[in-house]
Amino acid sequence: MARLSVNVDHIATIRQARRTKEPDPVTAASLAEIGGADAITIHLREDRRHIQDRDAIILRKTIKTKLNLEMAATQEMLKIALELKPDMVTLVPEKRQELTTEGGLDVRTHKDHLKKFLGTLKEAGIRVNLFIDPEPEQIKASHKIDTNGIEIHTGKYCDAKDEIMKDKELERIYNTALLASKLGMAVHAGHGLDYYNVKKVTEIKEIEEFAVGFSIIARSVFVGIERAVREMKELMK
Ligand code: PXP
Repeated sequence: MARLSVNVDHIATIRQARRTKEPDPVTAASLAEIGGADAITIHLREDRRHIQDRDAIILRKTIKTKLNLEMAATQEMLKIALELKPDMVTLVPEKRQELTTEGGLDVRTHKDHLKKFLGTLKEAGIRVNLFIDPEPEQIKASHKIDTNGIEIHTGKYCDAKDEIMKDKELERIYNTALLASKLGMAVHAGHGLDYYNVKKVTEIKEIEEFAVGFSIIARSVFVGIERAVREMKELMK
């Protein structure tokens, strides 16, 4: 069965709406672990719109599973990651105006910068994944710059308006997962996954880990985090 990494950013989004102390993503992460999360993901954004530096520092000390830090490939974030030492970094593109991460990294265009950047993280003992769209060229470029793995952007599959488009996107995800796995890279996937669309992607055996945030946190408002995580894991079986 694939692992589930629970993204707790949206708990911090609620807290930041009032710039107060509650709800605390640190508490959310502990409850997610009790519910069966295999890892916790946080995205420390340049504008600090949800996760704060304090959250990352405390989570590093309290998480009992694995900490995955999503971040942009900037010098500010590199310094933070080298000090924090998360178990894994997922490099993502970042735009200030976007509601959430909109697309994957263009590894082909930024290969020199990304190679140097991820090399520094790897030297510090941190695993690195690149968040990319399900395109063979991006997979091959990622392999060439020696990333430990990739996270396939599942957004287009999740947003597809009809079954034909959904199946087409699913096939793209399957083909790229297969290629990445053949090239020896760890294969993760995420973005937009929910209780209704997750099952089909979990049938792709090459995908070892799924990163899910919004849908779990949204459901947790009604049923609590532990149960929301447990229900997601149940669907992934
Ligand atoms: N993976 C990456 C790289 C992301 O940026 C996000 C969103 O923060 C997710 C996974 C989780 O997406 P969602 O919140 O839609 O489940």
